[in-house]
Amino acid sequence: MTLANPSLPSFASRIVPVIVITDLRQAVPLAHALLAGGVDVMEITLRHEAGLPAIEAVARQVPQMQVGAGTVTRAREMARARDAGARFALSPGMSDELVQAAFDCELPFIPGVMTPGEVMRAREHGFGLLKLFPAEQAGGVGMLKALAGPLPEMRFCPTGGVSPSNLPQYLQQPNVAMVGGSWLTPAAALEQGRWQDITDLAAQATALTLPPIGT
Ligand code: 3PG
Repeated sequence: MTLANPSLPSFASRIVPVIVITDLRQAVPLAHALLAGGVDVMEITLRHEAGLPAIEAVARQVPQMQVGAGTVTRAREMARARDAGARFALSPGMSDELVQAAFDCELPFIPGVMTPGEVMRAREHGFGLLKLFPAEQAGGVGMLKALAGPLPEMRFCPTGGVSPSNLPQYLQQPNVAMVGGSWLTPAAALEQGRWQDITDLAAQATALTLPPIGT
């Protein structure tokens, strides 16, 4: 699969877990738990003060994990994410300042969009892969089908409301590169260190992204 955003690291997983880490000690075991379930990418959000140190810990200690910074909504956060070791950044939206900061930092960036006009503005900035957020509220699979008509070259990472029940429908859309979601990393499992549960959730999701045996 060719992703148009320059320098975006390559990863095997088509599922990007959206993670809120509240305790730095969760970061490295969580990265290993996801890898054990076949998920080699993680979006650690900046919604909690533990987010940046968690990115740093994973980047240093689990180099086989492609760790990105999520919920990057202010330009100044872009350099902080890069300095912590994030390999890429995602945002629920897109602003000119944020785009400029990503270019200045040379940090691969996946901006968020919700409308055709926003998709076109992102394309003008040179982005080919966008986060559709919030995906279900934006119209879900129907919206992705509708966008494919006038904007066929654009690829999306729908996030928001994606779950195992609708995951296959999303992944079947030709303009969906991967999906994001928080269901792989429930807060309680993180707090209680139930890493095997997370590996199981990751493995179940990974299995849904693969064609059934014999096809
Ligand atoms: C995000 O921040 O990208 C979303 O909150 C994830 O949405 P979900 O919790 O519905 O998966």
